[in-house]
Amino acid sequence: MSGRGEWATPERMAEQAATGEGVFGAYEAFEKGTDEKTIGAHGIVDDAYALVYARNLVDLLRRQGASMAGPILDVGCGIGTVTNAIRTACGSGTDCQGIDLSASAIRVARRRYADCAFRAGSADDLGTFADGAFSLIHAREFYPFTRSADAGLHARFLAEFATKLMPGGSVAAVQIIGRAGLADSLAALAKQVPGLGFESAARRVMVPNRAYRRLGRTVYGAAFYEIVSAASATFESFRPGRASYVYLFSKAAV
Ligand SMILES: C[S@@+](CC[C@H](N)C(=O)[O-])C[C@H]1O[C@@H](n2cnc3c(N)ncnc32)[C@H](O)[C@@H]1O
Repeated sequence: MSGRGEWATPERMAEQAATGEGVFGAYEAFEKGTDEKTIGAHGIVDDAYALVYARNLVDLLRRQGASMAGPILDVGCGIGTVTNAIRTACGSGTDCQGIDLSASAIRVARRRYADCAFRAGSADDLGTFADGAFSLIHAREFYPFTRSADAGLHARFLAEFATKLMPGGSVAAVQIIGRAGLADSLAALAKQVPGLGFESAARRVMVPNRAYRRLGRTVYGAAFYEIVSAASATFESFRPGRASYVYLFSKAAV
């Protein structure tokens, strides 16, 4: 286990949830109405911004051939703002669900987004969902993937996710490169993908939301996207942590 990532294990996160540490305290304060600002440091709270993010994501994933038909599960969904935006971006008939360790965040999510279903629990145990239930499992800035360099921890979550995906389904984990995270483990995970239940593993640049907001889906046209991808890689080399990446783990179609 990497020392850097020990707090991101489900066991340590559950302890933090029980004592209201870190993000969990922020969710509780938001729910009680005593502090509505601090959760902004931990996730997306603004619906308009979430919708730009979700449309950007959906266009990138469609470009990569991922199925957006649903059902879709958002792991580490927090108060559900992104979960709900993904539903809107995919079409409001899409079945979008969320799971988070914070019971407080889930209560807020249920109150704010009645069209999505939310559950409290750890995403390394998705036993309450049927095997093969989802076409896509999405994770944005999901701590076990962003704050740990431990390939074993990443593999543990991915293997669980694979069992809940239908054939041809994908995991899309969105995060910056910077601290510990999937960037550290991708090479090791790519070698193990058949054992984890996947056919392939890849990383793709997500066009910055500011550019997507101005230009829309044209940013994923071949020429533009190649330029943005190359520019992001260059930028990343001298200003690490500025670009967002999608880590895509895909199951075989049959
Ligand atoms: C940085 S926040 C991101 C929230 C949301 N995805 C967003 O981008 O707005 C990370 C979230 O992961 C959740 N989390 C961490 N470990 C988890 C686990 N094992 N199972 C479910 N949720 C978890 C935390 O409770 C927190 O809500």
